[in-house]
Amino acid sequence: MALVENGRRVLANLVHSQDQAHAPFGGVVPEVAARAHLEKLPSLVDVVLSGQGASGRDVDLVAVARGPGLVGCLLVGVGLAQGLAAAWDRPVAGVNHLWGHVYAALLARPDLEPPLLALVVSGAHSDLVRMPAHGEFHVVGRTRDDAAGEAFDKAARTLGLGYPGGPALDRAARRGDPARQPLPVPSLPGLEYSFSGLKTALLYRVRDLGGPVGAGALDDATVADLAAAFERSVVESLLAKLDRALDVWPAPEVVVCGGVAANTLLRRRSEEVVAGRARLTVPPLSLCTDNAAMIAAAGPHAPRDGELRAEPSLAW
Ligand code: KG4
Ligand code: ZN
Repeated sequence: MALVENGRRVLANLVHSQDQAHAPFGGVVPEVAARAHLEKLPSLVDVVLSGQGASGRDVDLVAVARGPGLVGCLLVGVGLAQGLAAAWDRPVAGVNHLWGHVYAALLARPDLEPPLLALVVSGAHSDLVRMPAHGEFHVVGRTRDDAAGEAFDKAARTLGLGYPGGPALDRAARRGDPARQPLPVPSLPGLEYSFSGLKTALLYRVRDLGGPVGAGALDDATVADLAAAFERSVVESLLAKLDRALDVWPAPEVVVCGGVAANTLLRRRSEEVVAGRARLTVPPLSLCTDNAAMIAAAGPHAPRDGELRAEPSLAW
């Protein structure tokens, strides 16, 4: 739940993490996630408003993620937003979650404006998108199979690093050497990604080294080396295509965003790849992983006509 001024200035941005609720299951359980939304969201409205000494009357626009995402969570959010908008007599905007990730960069850098080229990497997406103007997005590259975040999560499980996987793998990789257990860098022609082969390569390597997979049978140093190698392969693959996309679609601004943009190596290597060709914006960690401020930032540019409903598999 967030309060954002003029789509640009974050006044409040609260995240109720569900990591502890899902950790025993090793992944997100949709029913648990929806219930947590139902239990937490209404009280967060009060916390955000009272923290600013504000009331519903001070709100000009209610913005909510309408998709893509888990249907139960989207339904809770959309229902609450419609209720608030009706109670406060204000309009409500249904925002594409993926747009939100890009708009997070505009919160991070107040003078950032389209046209821009974005690499959007999350749990379910690895997309290269052109944004010629506000509210306009064209996908120029995507993944054929797994998304980068999904690949990190699965690799973390294979290595016995626990949940949530991406941050755990990031931490392990900092202690490792990517050259000691090198893994292939996926490379498809054009601007397409594929991470399923890399995931299998890691699985076989763990077995060759005496697995069993996910059970912590490998020593810490080897796990760290494998985490570093896997991370390097994903990051170099992501950036090779960003590099190519920037050649094909030159833009003054480049954005790297989404939950995976919290990754330490991706943040560092993006700087090096983009350097001198465009200005790079990678939002701070709190705006990379899912949050409400990014949805509020995109709200003024989201379509407001038509019926607002949850759209679990909404595309760009
Ligand atoms: O955007 P996001 O918060 O949620 C979705 O919209 O999916 O992205 C979540 C993804 C997860 O797969 C998570 O493991 C990954 O982002 N992630 C990371 C890191 N922090 C989060 N992956 C690698 N390194 C990180 N530090
Ligand atoms: Zn997301």
